[in-house]
Amino acid sequence: MGSSSVRLALLLLPLHAWLSLGFPGSGYSPLEDDEDVFSYPRQKDTPWCSPIKVKYGDVYCRAPHGGYYKNVLGTRCDVRCRKGYELHGSSQLTCQPNKRWSDKVLCKQKRCPTLSMPANGGFKCIDGAYFNSRCEYYCTPGYTLKGERTVVCLDNKSWSGRPAMCVDVEPPRIQCPSMKERIAEPNKLTVRVFWETPEGRDTADGILTDVILKGLPPGSDFPEGYHKIQYTVYDRAENKGTCKFHVKVRVQRCNKLHAPENGYIKCSSDGNNYGATCEFSCIGGYELQGSPARVCQSNLAWSGTDPTCKAMKINVGVRSAAALLDQFYEKRRLLIVSTPTARNLLYRAQLSMLQQSQCGLDLRHITVIELVGTYPTLIGRIGMRIMPPALTLQLRLLLRIPLNTFSILLVDKHGMDKERYMSIVTPISLFNLIDTFPLRKEEMVIQAEMGQACN
Ligand SMILES: *[C@@H]1O[C@H](CO)[C@@H](O)[C@H](O)[C@H]1NC(C)=O
Repeated sequence: MGSSSVRLALLLLPLHAWLSLGFPGSGYSPLEDDEDVFSYPRQKDTPWCSPIKVKYGDVYCRAPHGGYYKNVLGTRCDVRCRKGYELHGSSQLTCQPNKRWSDKVLCKQKRCPTLSMPANGGFKCIDGAYFNSRCEYYCTPGYTLKGERTVVCLDNKSWSGRPAMCVDVEPPRIQCPSMKERIAEPNKLTVRVFWETPEGRDTADGILTDVILKGLPPGSDFPEGYHKIQYTVYDRAENKGTCKFHVKVRVQRCNKLHAPENGYIKCSSDGNNYGATCEFSCIGGYELQGSPARVCQSNLAWSGTDPTCKAMKINVGVRSAAALLDQFYEKRRLLIVSTPTARNLLYRAQLSMLQQSQCGLDLRHITVIELVGTYPTLIGRIGMRIMPPALTLQLRLLLRIPLNTFSILLVDKHGMDKERYMSIVTPISLFNLIDTFPLRKEEMVIQAEMGQACN
């Protein structure tokens, strides 16, 4: 070794002091060998312990007498770990007489607590739970992250943020059928409408409540108008999905029909909706001509022809009593008053009573036929019409009406004898009896609807 190298070492001494700070972890100087030789005479400055190196740490040593070697006997060293590392062992070491340092030290990487997996999601870290590791959370489809997406393991061994959660914020999907427009069923103001109950679909776990319906259920009879149908479904996170649609029901109508003059009208359903039927009838003494019933058709026109009520014409010129009676069949009731003479008191009293009850007779479709006298001075009378004697006699014989006494016969619309009276009968008791006839009961319903009554 020449003096030039010694000089170099001396020149570099300040640099060495700087280097012991600048190269952390080095417990000795790179010029050690040279100094060894150079400082040999001084016992206390002889390197004693092995040089200290602490991985991921810095060591600062002070020799007891300020010598150049940082590993002589009695040297004290402070150990500090670098950022992100923590010390295991004592932070101060001493070079002991047994040539060992007083402790074994280690800088271990710091760890944050293990992150727990979020439900319905996960996370990925670049370096596990170690210091400075960055972890990124993600959620399974249908879930949304709540909290910070990324967290970093900090120097104080805690994560930079709270653990994230995956929550279901997306509402379930539900699709309703499109709007339905329907025509009311024939002869009804409603229509039965069907559709399939929509099912909800969830983007998360697929677990949904039953759908909740607001409005009429499918298969109901929907009345005319606009109907709102709404379905609602919830997922497990109480997110709500709804859909709605409308059912529109139209009633098709013909123009409204009216009762013919001197007649009645009775319609089914709503009177003029598609499929409704109107039936016509005439008041007593009138005959229906035209269609007795008309239907509102799908082209919104009425079937048949306009009905009219024509005054009933009784033909008294017929040959037989049967032909005469036939004209009243199913149309009129007959009250046949027979008397041997026009002067008969019962006859006169009866006639006057009946005249005062003309409204009640008309209401009950009663035609009064008078048979007056005995053969050959015999006539019959229907209102103003006079029946020839032969027809009058025939009628008495056919209906077995006694010739020489006052009597009354009531014949119903089907030509059946209903009652015979040998004395006068009050119109009240007569009407009370007729009002018990089944056919009369139907008439009474219609007449009540039409507001027809006698006062
Ligand atoms: C760790 O450091 C962060 C940021 O400096 C701080 O917000 C947090 O409270 C610290 N945690 C603990 C447990 O000391």
